[in-house]
Amino acid sequence: MGIVPKLRGARTHEGLPISDGLSHSSSASNNKKWLTLMPLFVALLIIAEIGFLGRLGIIKNADFFGMFRKSHTSARLKVAGSRDFGILRALGGYRYRNSTCEEWLEREDAVVYSRDFSQDPILVSGDPPKVLTTCAVGCKIGSDPNKKPDVIINPRSEPVAPTVLRSMESTAYYPNNNIALAQRKGYEYVMTTSLSSDVPVGYFSWAEYDIMAPVIPKIKKALAAAFISNCHAHNFRLQALVGLEKEDIKIDSYGRCNRNHNGKVDKVKTLKHYKFSLAFENSNEEDYVTEKFFQSLVAGSVPVVVGAPNIEDFAPSPGSYLHIKDLEDIHSVAERMKYLAKNPDAYNQSLRWKYEGPSDSFKALFDMAAVHSSCRLCIHLATIFREEEEKNPDVQKRPCKCETGSETVYHLYLRERGRFEFDSIFLRSGDLTLEALEAAVLMHFKSRKHEPIWKWERPESIRGGELKVYRIYPLGLTQRQALYTFKFQDDADLRNHFESNPCAKFEVIFV
Ligand SMILES: *[C@@H]1O[C@H](CO)[C@@H](O)[C@H](O)[C@H]1NC(C)=O
Ligand SMILES: *[C@@H]1O[C@H](CO)[C@@H](O)[C@H](O)[C@H]1NC(C)=O
Repeated sequence: MGIVPKLRGARTHEGLPISDGLSHSSSASNNKKWLTLMPLFVALLIIAEIGFLGRLGIIKNADFFGMFRKSHTSARLKVAGSRDFGILRALGGYRYRNSTCEEWLEREDAVVYSRDFSQDPILVSGDPPKVLTTCAVGCKIGSDPNKKPDVIINPRSEPVAPTVLRSMESTAYYPNNNIALAQRKGYEYVMTTSLSSDVPVGYFSWAEYDIMAPVIPKIKKALAAAFISNCHAHNFRLQALVGLEKEDIKIDSYGRCNRNHNGKVDKVKTLKHYKFSLAFENSNEEDYVTEKFFQSLVAGSVPVVVGAPNIEDFAPSPGSYLHIKDLEDIHSVAERMKYLAKNPDAYNQSLRWKYEGPSDSFKALFDMAAVHSSCRLCIHLATIFREEEEKNPDVQKRPCKCETGSETVYHLYLRERGRFEFDSIFLRSGDLTLEALEAAVLMHFKSRKHEPIWKWERPESIRGGELKVYRIYPLGLTQRQALYTFKFQDDADLRNHFESNPCAKFEVIFV
């Protein structure tokens, strides 16, 4: 007798048409009719199951994205089926099956993981206790007397768990921060300013710097301001400072090196009045870009850079900075500064990004920091733990693709960078192109009204409107690869990737 309420529940839930006669009659008469029809249902169950099995091989379904399913097989299923399936489930054990190729994959490829991170969060020790409530995966910083940590950051004694090296210093001062060296010394994971490290920790973030702060008039006579206090840096920055002065560039120096102004001022406020700011790092190292550069951007004072050879990766637009790569550049950079100082329109071009917004590449880099580095560490670890479980032979047997008519449907998994759970996306062999992948991804996330993870972090003026894909890359790449160096060569390259990586996982960066 429990059948009817369940059935009705299923009906309203799924919106299945039961039949005009039944759905309009009273529940008492429903009961009677259902009972007399029972043998028929059982017969229908068998027919439907046969139909289902047949469909796996022969179904020719649906449009490209599998959003709408109309085909002769679905129509046939409706005759034999839709209402009966609902009933059968109510009878117990049988699931209602739409049974398109995609849904079959969604079910068959699903993995039940042993660890539920919401109950059993990633435990990171070595830092003061903290629960990251907004992290996409359960993530707890601190220690738990009843639990061994998953990792320990910068351990001070013999570690009881895998270790993480975390540092924001350059390898010029801390050679151990070199990724290969740290790994050789036994660190499992590395978090440094290097975008090639497992979980990069940069100096940049939207929260820290009011990047789009308006430009104000440059009232200072001196062309540039300098805040440099370690006069014995490992690079040539002091020579560059002296060299520019020799080239007749007037510099107001607020730091200890060649000081000619009182240093007790607000740095960013002061910089705002200068056309140029000497953003001289203490080492010239890839990805080592500190507040010196970002504060200059906030101030709208064009940074003159000594530092990361790849500073262009960190710049809001190509013409937004000057770069002294080595001492030979001093003369030409000095000439350029003088030229810009005399030509307001040309100078204003260097700050164009302040009015029009920074490049997509700059946004994509800064957006990484919208997720706290500890949370990114937890996501990184939890992802690795799941990947480990997926090496289980049973999981390896997942179909990951199915045939429909003459086409193959590929099952891929996608998540936004900074999130943890993956969504399914299906691509058909007839349209297995980079363009189709991007279109499918956009369609999927747009249809869910997806809000990019950086939405509330980025300054409002540069949030953009429509969701836009910046990069789609295979899971497991470093941020250096993801943002700058990785690219599928062509559609064939993408196809190869699907063939050699069943149930391939990707991350997407929206801008
Ligand atoms: C399955 O089909 C039913 C009826 O056509 C529909 O209401 C339901 O949304 C479909 N389920 C999925 C997961 O597509
Ligand atoms: C600089 O250019 C922007 C537009 O690109 C303009 O609004 C602004 O007034 C210009 N500033 C100067 C000082 O010319």
